[in-house]
Amino acid sequence: MSKNNLSGKDILSIEQFSLADINYLLSTAKKMKKAVERKGGLDTLKGKVMAALFYEPSSRTFGSFITSMQRLGGGIIPLQGMTNSSVAKGETLFDTIQTFQSYSDVIVIRHPEVGSAKVAADASQIPVINAGDGIGEHPTQALLDLFTIVDSLGKVDGLEITMIGDLLNGRTIHSLSKLLAKMDKVKITFISPKSLKVTQETKDYLTKHGVKFSETDNLKETVKNADVVYMTRVQKERFKNLKEYAKVKDAYIITPQIMKNAKKKMILMHPLPRVGEILPEVDSDPRAVYLSKQMRSGLYMRMALLASVLGKI
Ligand code: NCD
Repeated sequence: MSKNNLSGKDILSIEQFSLADINYLLSTAKKMKKAVERKGGLDTLKGKVMAALFYEPSSRTFGSFITSMQRLGGGIIPLQGMTNSSVAKGETLFDTIQTFQSYSDVIVIRHPEVGSAKVAADASQIPVINAGDGIGEHPTQALLDLFTIVDSLGKVDGLEITMIGDLLNGRTIHSLSKLLAKMDKVKITFISPKSLKVTQETKDYLTKHGVKFSETDNLKETVKNADVVYMTRVQKERFKNLKEYAKVKDAYIITPQIMKNAKKKMILMHPLPRVGEILPEVDSDPRAVYLSKQMRSGLYMRMALLASVLGKI
């Protein structure tokens, strides 16, 4: 196994990772999985404290970071409602970061502005982990998504991956596309309403990395060849005009019928929350991993990330 190059580092964007870092994180997450299955966790981070500063709603990212720290024996400052903190009194992000770096060893931040995690990292002496910066990136989600793919299908190189939904505003899409670009011979197909197409920045990144990708609106045909279908919700909170949201929110829906056309050996993923784009009837399909394996991967990968940046691995 390669060595830990992430000690003391911030986790801000997928762009920062080498292939060696990615493989290191995948194998560390696998070890964390074994440790959790065997004895619930480890005490690797005993005496360390994580501050989780969430300025936007979250269930899975917040919950899994908290439980990851706990399962490694560490302490937590869980602030999910940052709008109830001194932020409500007008405190700047800089001052908030100064405060929590006095109390903790690592800061996890979710914030509505693109680039906010970088601003926090620049203000901080301790590692900062980006748990979603507006429509920017969500690197820890992409890493857990990759772990889910490898854990389910045994590999990622050479696979056909279809991403569907709000490809413009979905930060999970931005990070996962960039992460897959570092893999070998992956083929990506994007499906979205016209107004929510994947950004030129992401397309340029894929082209630069020699990744084959295409855009289509034919869900039924595309699903037939996919090894991974990655569904996302239309991001209502990013719309200024809710009439525009209503027009596109149900553009693509995964039904049992659609799943009938899919390969026997494929997986259906979703970062969640879903708001109607995968019908509940699909949940019992063994290829649906969003309510099981994918969520559980969040725990293992975030344990791996916390132990790595705190230099305890
Ligand atoms: C995603 C997010 O916050 O970007 N959720 C998550 O972290 N699992 C996806 C979403 O909100 O649609």
